[in-house]
Amino acid sequence: MPIILKTRREIEMMRRAGQIGCEILAAMREVVRAGVTTFELNEIARELLAKRNAIGMSKNYPDYKPGTGYPAETCLSINEEVVHGIPGPRQLKDGDIITLDLALRVEGYCADTATTVAVGQVSDKVNKLVNVTRDTLAIALKQIKPGRKWSDIARLMQYHVESNGFNVVREFVGHGVGRSMHEDPKVPNFVTAEQLRGDFKLRPGMTFAVEPMVVIGRRDVHQLPDGWTVVTEDGQPAAHFEHTIAVTEAGADILTDGRPPWGL
Ligand code: MF3
Ligand code: CO
Ligand code: CO
Repeated sequence: MPIILKTRREIEMMRRAGQIGCEILAAMREVVRAGVTTFELNEIARELLAKRNAIGMSKNYPDYKPGTGYPAETCLSINEEVVHGIPGPRQLKDGDIITLDLALRVEGYCADTATTVAVGQVSDKVNKLVNVTRDTLAIALKQIKPGRKWSDIARLMQYHVESNGFNVVREFVGHGVGRSMHEDPKVPNFVTAEQLRGDFKLRPGMTFAVEPMVVIGRRDVHQLPDGWTVVTEDGQPAAHFEHTIAVTEAGADILTDGRPPWGL
């Protein structure tokens, strides 16, 4: 499928979704503390989505038929859970990290954003994991300019992670985003022969979810019997940050950071 370019107006529609997504993640982050369950965190998102007339795109994914697919509005992944953790009775405890991942649609346009949050005091190593993952996303977004090849940016992301002694998860990648949560192209956080075959040049009007997933230990992952939760093989923690951005002449316009347009 071709990459769908967005107009200025469409990008502003995506920013509205992005600002609401940012607001909801902030509200969830506020209540993250030891003893809170992931069910309670998802409830905050569910209620705020309804209040803002926004649709959570994960619920029922990939079918959009009620009662099928993924069972919640958010993906909440604790420690060794990399992505797609299902909200439930698991309680946060001091020293945990939790990734809050929310994709939503507002008036026909989507945004997708995630952040990893520490619960109380975490170890130095886990703290470094979170910082390196956040920086990996920031480095990628700073590199975005029309004319650049994505693979050159992906290489820098991989280098930042690996030179800090960590590893990039290979099973999941970023993606185009727009009227749908997931559009072409694939937006990887690493470089392989396969990824190079799907390489592309950045153009104004492209809109992507960029989302590095980084682990302390081995990069191998597997899915739990619940059919969704993806965990590290070695049980060590993972971090994940995600922003929805538009490529503009001036660089990446971040649509999920709750700020007004680039340059204003
Ligand atoms: N938000 C996820 C992403 O970043 C997609 C979640 S789909 C679900 O692409 F079904 F797993 F929730
Ligand atoms: Co997401
Ligand atoms: Co995404």
